[in-house]
Amino acid sequence: MKIFKITIILCLLGSLTLFAQAIKTRTHTNFDEGWKFALGHATDYTRDFNYGNGNNLFAKSGESAGTAIAIDFNDKQWTNIRLPHDWVVGLPFKYIKNDDIDSHGYKPVGMLFPENSIGWYRKSFDIASVDSGKRFEIQFDGIYRDSKIWLNGYYIGGHFSGYNSVTFDITDFIRFGKKNVLVVRADATEFEGWFYEGGGIYRHTWLNTYDNLHFKSNGGVFAHAAVEDKDARVTIETNIENRGIKGATATVYNYVTDRNGKVLAKGKEMPLDLAVRKDIKISDNILLRNAHLWDLNDPYLYKAVSVIKQNGRTIDSMQTRFGVRTFTFDSKTGFALNGRKMKIQGVSCHQDHAGVGSALPDELQFYRIKLLKEMGVNAYRATHNPPTPELLDACDSLGMLVMDETRLLNSGKEYEDQFRDLILRDRNHASVFSWSIGNEEYVTQHTDIGKRIAQNQVLLQQELDPTRISTYAANMGNYFKGANEVIPVRGFNYNLGGLDGYHAAHPDQPIIGTEVASTVTTRSIFTKDTVRAYVPDYDLTFPSWASTAETWWKITQDRPWFMGGFAWTGFDYRGEPTPYRWPNVNSHFGIMDMCGFPKTVYYYYQAWWTDKDVLHIAPHWNWKGKEGQPIEVWVNSNADDVELKLNGKSLGKKDMPRNGHLIWTINYQPGVLSAIAHKKGRVIKAKVETTLSPVSIKLIPSKIKLMHDGQDAVIVNVIALDAKGREVPDAANMVQFDMQGSAEIIGVGNGDPSSHEADKCSDGQWQRSLFGGKAQVIIRSLKSNGKITLKGFSSGLKADEVTFQ
Ligand code: GAL
Repeated sequence: MKIFKITIILCLLGSLTLFAQAIKTRTHTNFDEGWKFALGHATDYTRDFNYGNGNNLFAKSGESAGTAIAIDFNDKQWTNIRLPHDWVVGLPFKYIKNDDIDSHGYKPVGMLFPENSIGWYRKSFDIASVDSGKRFEIQFDGIYRDSKIWLNGYYIGGHFSGYNSVTFDITDFIRFGKKNVLVVRADATEFEGWFYEGGGIYRHTWLNTYDNLHFKSNGGVFAHAAVEDKDARVTIETNIENRGIKGATATVYNYVTDRNGKVLAKGKEMPLDLAVRKDIKISDNILLRNAHLWDLNDPYLYKAVSVIKQNGRTIDSMQTRFGVRTFTFDSKTGFALNGRKMKIQGVSCHQDHAGVGSALPDELQFYRIKLLKEMGVNAYRATHNPPTPELLDACDSLGMLVMDETRLLNSGKEYEDQFRDLILRDRNHASVFSWSIGNEEYVTQHTDIGKRIAQNQVLLQQELDPTRISTYAANMGNYFKGANEVIPVRGFNYNLGGLDGYHAAHPDQPIIGTEVASTVTTRSIFTKDTVRAYVPDYDLTFPSWASTAETWWKITQDRPWFMGGFAWTGFDYRGEPTPYRWPNVNSHFGIMDMCGFPKTVYYYYQAWWTDKDVLHIAPHWNWKGKEGQPIEVWVNSNADDVELKLNGKSLGKKDMPRNGHLIWTINYQPGVLSAIAHKKGRVIKAKVETTLSPVSIKLIPSKIKLMHDGQDAVIVNVIALDAKGREVPDAANMVQFDMQGSAEIIGVGNGDPSSHEADKCSDGQWQRSLFGGKAQVIIRSLKSNGKITLKGFSSGLKADEVTFQ
């Protein structure tokens, strides 16, 4: 027994030592704090810190005098900010008749607003002299867009994409032991999409350091696993480069740990002899006994640790999370995960949320994915651009499949590089089950050029990631020519009338619904309002190309070969106001609104996408002035039958149609409207009732513990209660917020698609009116420790307060 115990301790110590080394050799330091920001100008150099005014910026290396790029430039007047930062979300709304402005949510950005479209960022930092000899790299996970970057006056590169991650080796430009200044100029005068995109360094930034002999930062390790009965064969492909000044010999090996870091299996130690400026790919495979599969309800993640050793010392080590699972795309039977057939119950989403725009704290990524899982969503399509890595982390950890999409269908150098970088960055993520090479490229998709581009991108994907497939989101119905001829999985955007004909003609090509539904609804509004630009919160209204939720889901259920698809969209987003325009400033396509508050259609999906007991009545029952008038009542449920009662009097019992909903038309009387349902012999109950006016505010935080790391965030939902403690569903009170302690409010919202209230307020001025009885406040921690209190108050109502630890 004693020997056994000692062995365990030695093994533990062994794995701990391996990890201690892994931490020391390579660093990945968050670089989000301590930035300065100022708007420049797109057409007037005098307002753009002299940029472009004969200052030899690109004529002489390191020249930067007289511009905001210079080390000694005085940025005292610039605003102190922390990343992620979206400067556009704080701009006021502005109506002008212009398609770009309309589709971007009436924010005054783009070439028509040169004064709002250039963002300058500066950050000063020190690097100790003892660190010289290592390699240094700066990593930006997203800058919108067309950015130029300088370190200490030296141009280190440009980045065209507003969505891809990018790294720059900055080793040569560092001033060891002195102040270093990193400067970014982001240019948002051109758009990349037709939806709200934000502006600025809106994702994380990192400082990476490693040895001259190292795993490449993007694509340096690719870990994937093939299932062999109960076991898994893990392949770990490493790509090592030598940026030192002489040839290097070393050894490289990999091992696999469970999610807690316990070593499970180790590969062989392989010799490495690498000349200066050369790189090499080395692959190994490791057998993992009794592999624990990654699945939607049990998203188990392993770690692959890759190590480079020189003279007995670890000089580089990379840790890669991966999952063991199988995906099957079958033209006859549809999609299967780990051999289990399932429909893709997916949503498409843009990276946009109330209060914060495109600059979402990581916590909000997790929050949104959790909301989607609650609803029964099993797959997320990152439209129409590469997501932030933290979104994929959330999907890996919580169990959500991801379709990872590159911005454009184009195989020219810029866009081929974008797709390559995306695959290299994201191919280790357990959640990614498919790549998408583009969306609705109406100029190109049906042409021979479209076919050649698609072929190139598919081959590139197969070379870099043979473990997955590609699809393309084609709004072409039953049409084969062009991109569809070469795409392994045919994507249908809408046009589901063409499904059967297409399947009959191409029975061997699997089909997925890359984009479906596009139902438009305004949460908590039940009548059409063309003045405020609201559409009723029932599954009724859709644009000409789209359908209701029920239509596409029934089509899916009736066809085993159709994999299911991605409803447009999980959440409302800024821009694309449809079907109305101004004063509507954001889309109504969401199944949830901008804050993640569910609309009626949410319960349709939840009823048919989960095993939960769902019984939901719409609308609410506050219709003062409508006494005696008919009101359409929708019941969404997965019960067997439902009986509705108004103030105790039965309005009849109906069988619940599978994948459908029930409607009663009732003459309104205030009181209680209740539903009693039966599901497999059990009784389920729900009710809506007429409330009194609001008397108090209630704050509902997503959690009450906050890490004082300057990154953690809490989502606080705000509602109003009546004297009997019931939520008032049509309350519209203005609520003020006061934040004390080591956190700050970073945004407010209420889900009203026509609201022109500010999402960003100045300190001490935070407020938002309730819409449909709800609003939301997002708070982010500071680095100091201490008590944090948020207070919500509204004239004439009792205030509420939450204290966070
Ligand atoms: C699709 C498009 C989406 C969005 C949607 C609205 O055609 O791919 O980006 O515009 O329509 O229904």
